[in-house]
Amino acid sequence: MTLRLTTAGESHGPALVAVVEGLPAGLVLDRAAIDADLLRRQQGYGRSPRQQIEQDTVEVLAGLRHGRTLGTPLALVVRNRDHENWRSGMSPWPPEGEPTGKGTKPVTLPRPGHADLAGVLKHGFADVRDALERASARHTAVIVAAGAVAKALLHEIEVEVEGTVVDEEALRKRIDEARAARDTVGGVVEVRGRGVPPGLGSYASRATRLDARLAAAVMGIQAVKGVEIGDGFALAAKRGSEAHDEIGEGFRRDTNHAGGIEAGVSNGEEIVVRAAMKPLPTLMRPLASVDLATGEPSDALVERSDVAAVEALAVVAEAAVAFELARAAREKFGGDAIGDLVAAWRAYLERIPWRRTR
Ligand SMILES: Cc1cc2nc3c(=O)[nH]c(=O)nc-3n(C[C@H](O)[C@H](O)[C@H](O)COP(=O)(O)O)c2cc1C
Repeated sequence: MTLRLTTAGESHGPALVAVVEGLPAGLVLDRAAIDADLLRRQQGYGRSPRQQIEQDTVEVLAGLRHGRTLGTPLALVVRNRDHENWRSGMSPWPPEGEPTGKGTKPVTLPRPGHADLAGVLKHGFADVRDALERASARHTAVIVAAGAVAKALLHEIEVEVEGTVVDEEALRKRIDEARAARDTVGGVVEVRGRGVPPGLGSYASRATRLDARLAAAVMGIQAVKGVEIGDGFALAAKRGSEAHDEIGEGFRRDTNHAGGIEAGVSNGEEIVVRAAMKPLPTLMRPLASVDLATGEPSDALVERSDVAAVEALAVVAEAAVAFELARAAREKFGGDAIGDLVAAWRAYLERIPWRRTR
């Protein structure tokens, strides 16, 4: 028994779609909680006016009845309200009559740091838009919706997941300075999983290691270029005597350098995952590029863009970590109904000498 997430959708197409498979029946979902996370993703210092155009809300097309999961695939939709202005430009079928509005003129100036150049070369596109629409981080809206569902499942076994920006004050200052220089910045976010019992994941193989799975889930988010668990990169410079978390009476640890995972298995301490985000690649002051149609050097495309999206990344990374933890919990505790899963979790906690400390 596992959870699976499949997504589809383009940035200015009609909608973004997520299908979550493997949920137990009877899990209560709260529409307001999902929408609240969608709103959190849209906010943050340094975001562009686009975030105000589109107040995201979730629609559920399948897998839910009267607020309870049916144990069938859950289909989530987040509409792109801005699609109205891109009706012909992003029409799934050939537009009728003369195309009008946004997205009708081919983009031939690839932006460095985006999917633009590699995407057109790989697929043989003539219009960069055919690549950038899916590569866009707009996609993260449905990752957040699926993450909110995962958090509802985790809540049943008393696990909470929270993403925050590391050093928010310094980031805001860097954002102000970058905005004045018409530039962009990145930053670091941290996600903590509290109440995660020991034994999620496995040391048996790369595919089942919890650390590898969390790293892949977070690295899979646009603009993430580094992921560390616990003390991560800093561990490389430490001595073994100061790097490991000694086991005390009652199997307690006073330190958590490992970030809650040893040998790919959760050890009962707080899960700590950090991610480094690169500066956003679309600048108001364009970078150098070459026109795909003429081969002539030119400035890269300038699209309305954010100065930073680090606060948004904290919300997306929280969702990605929550989904992966829910998946690992689903694998360990199974069950066709949420009550079965909770009963298996309780029986497990009775068997092991572990009590939540934080
Ligand atoms: C929440 C979020 C919002 C983003 N917003 C923008 C943006 O407004 N402008 C931009 O150029 N890149 C933005 N990005 C980053 C690009 O989507 C990303 O750099 C690009 O798709 C290339 O992927 P890569 O950086 O993983 O190589 C955002 C990323 C995230 C996670």
